[in-house]
Amino acid sequence: MQKTPATGDNQPGSSQMMKAESNATQRWIANAAAATAQPNMHPDKRKPKTGILMLNMGGPETLEDVHDFLLRLFLDKDLMTLPAQSKLGPFIAKRRTPKIQEQYNKIGGGSPIKKWTAQQGEGMVRLLDELSPSTAPHKYYIGFRYVNPLTEAAIEEMENDGVERAIAFTQYPQYSCSTTGSSINAIYRYYNSKGVQPKMKWSVIDRWPTHPLLIQCFADHIQKELNMFPADKRGDVVILFSAHSLPMTVVNRGDPYPQEVGATVHKVMEKLGFCNPYRLVWQSKVGPMAWLGPQTSDAIEGLCKRGKKNLLLVPIAFTSDHIETLYELDIEYAQVLANECGVENIRRAESLNGNPLFSKALADLVLSHIKSKEVCSKQLTLRCPMCVNPVCGEAKSFFANQHL
Ligand code: FES
Repeated sequence: MQKTPATGDNQPGSSQMMKAESNATQRWIANAAAATAQPNMHPDKRKPKTGILMLNMGGPETLEDVHDFLLRLFLDKDLMTLPAQSKLGPFIAKRRTPKIQEQYNKIGGGSPIKKWTAQQGEGMVRLLDELSPSTAPHKYYIGFRYVNPLTEAAIEEMENDGVERAIAFTQYPQYSCSTTGSSINAIYRYYNSKGVQPKMKWSVIDRWPTHPLLIQCFADHIQKELNMFPADKRGDVVILFSAHSLPMTVVNRGDPYPQEVGATVHKVMEKLGFCNPYRLVWQSKVGPMAWLGPQTSDAIEGLCKRGKKNLLLVPIAFTSDHIETLYELDIEYAQVLANECGVENIRRAESLNGNPLFSKALADLVLSHIKSKEVCSKQLTLRCPMCVNPVCGEAKSFFANQHL
């Protein structure tokens, strides 16, 4: 049995992809690669004109950060509502801390998400400065929901820097009210709680599930991994796209996430010429409530029972490595569960991490957004049909009233 989760090489640019790029594109990619090699370098000390706030939930960088990460997460009413949340949230956070610390310990002691976001941000702003001098200098800011640098601190920094144009840029390609929606609500709450209007002009990139370069990145990473299977097994490999699941209460109130993840999967398979059979499955369910399925673990087990023992796992809803890839997919499923099920070959497509083409995708998204002169997508203006969170409505109005 071969169990070889891929986590090492972060410069995958396959020869096919590189050939397809024009000379100009290759130059951009080379610039992004140079930038990604120096994540802490801020060569441009001029006052930033355009600030790009890269939104994500974040992850604990050290084992000591795990408790506070969980505490903020379980207190976030945009992510979940619990009975007596102000008491139950801290209780659950405390109870789960040792178990989650153990998991982070097994992946090197912390989440790499800040490192990857910084590298991606560096690559993105380098390209933007070159492509769009009229909106330069561009500066990226990281706004996490549950660990430092927190969204609120990032907004403060942007205001203090004198940024003119602020772009809230979700790092989740597919929109969910519990992830991107929570970050957007946090931006609204920042100003509302202070009772002040922003000095910056805000707009939002709220989803990008089918952006062509995102699709190209995923397809390249999948093709690279498929090529690592034994030639006589390659055609039999089932591609299992795995995304973080959602409670059915969230799905049934009309959250767009399942549909948008499905759109990404379809575009990626189209790019690959529907070369192999595939399924979209869902991971990371917690608690006794009903969640969107099938669960990734059940799917691995079920496929093995039906004789499908060559599997390629593809994380499709996060772009950087995190505990759900490095621990859940690579250790829990590709090692432990695969052994139990009698898997023949199981591999995991690399996350997009430091792929220079991904930095180009981010730059292209920002550039198109600036050119569009739109505050947000039409989709963001619509509340879920069964939304009961008044802050969602207030946050949407906040952004709708921005004048670019
Ligand atoms: Fe979706 Fe409020 S929960 S808009």
